[in-house]
Amino acid sequence: MLSGMQPTKGGHLHIGNLEGALREWVRLQDAGEFEQYCFVADWHSLTTVSRDLMDIKEASINTTIDFLAAGIDPAKTAVFRQSDVKQHAELHLLLSMVTPVGWVERVPTYKEKRELVSENNEQVSYGLLGYPVLMTADILLYRAQAVPVGRDQAAHLEISREIARRFNRLTHVDVFPEPDAHISELTGELPGLDGRKMSKSYGNVIYLSMTEKETAKAINGAFTTPSKIHVTDPGVPEGCVVCKLRRVYDPEHYNTQWEECRHGQRGCGQSKKELTEIINASLAPIRARRNELLADKGYVEKVLAEGAERARETAEETLTLVRKALKL
Ligand code: TRP
Repeated sequence: MLSGMQPTKGGHLHIGNLEGALREWVRLQDAGEFEQYCFVADWHSLTTVSRDLMDIKEASINTTIDFLAAGIDPAKTAVFRQSDVKQHAELHLLLSMVTPVGWVERVPTYKEKRELVSENNEQVSYGLLGYPVLMTADILLYRAQAVPVGRDQAAHLEISREIARRFNRLTHVDVFPEPDAHISELTGELPGLDGRKMSKSYGNVIYLSMTEKETAKAINGAFTTPSKIHVTDPGVPEGCVVCKLRRVYDPEHYNTQWEECRHGQRGCGQSKKELTEIINASLAPIRARRNELLADKGYVEKVLAEGAERARETAEETLTLVRKALKL
């Protein structure tokens, strides 16, 4: 099993990352079915590098801290940083030789990002076009079978399967198994606080790193039913961020809250207060662990160094097969 996350915007993870991916990584890790690799995709976050370079090193440490706080156990999972394992770069280069340009140009995330970048009068980099090829290298380097990701990564998984197949066919060697996407359906159910998709770039997220007070403040500003002004006004839970998050975080009892809201038997203030308590309680153990790790960055560095060492071993085995298949 392999999966990764980009250390964007300071590297702090939010509840969308947690519920849509991290919890599944921890579940798979504890089930013990797979040899497991989880990494910080720091090279990927350079694909949309802008005028202001952020401190990726610091951001990668923050992402790692959130991995560990959420329950990733370095004794069971190799936790590492992409740029520490140079084999990712070599495999990316070699895979780029068997990837038709048309395939990468058609990837929907590329088309979206290309538009965004040109709106800001910036240039689209060659690296951005190659984003899914680098991601394919990440996956195939460990000959991963299971790749748990959010729905937004489905197209990338699809192209990685195609590249794996094409490599095997062109070289007449079965080097790579086709990776299976484990798509989390939760991602779509977890809206951002303003009702759009939860995303750092929209600033509509709840971070694991927030204090309980900051969480309360963020939830207080969340989008509810615009026409529900008085407690007795009927709400529309299906369109309300607070209600939708309640369903995710309180699956056994959300129904009562939804019906009371619908029938004007409760106000949004009460619903926000209750949701805050539920989310803060759910994040409490993760936040406590985060604070311990923040106080011991030496330990986090050590985890990354050991993780990279384990990753390099498997990566080098794969590359030996790849070089041979290409008659290098
Ligand atoms: N593209 C993924 C994201 O933005 C991060 C990522 C990079 C990844 N390489 C990967 C995820 C390999 C799974 C497997 O979330």
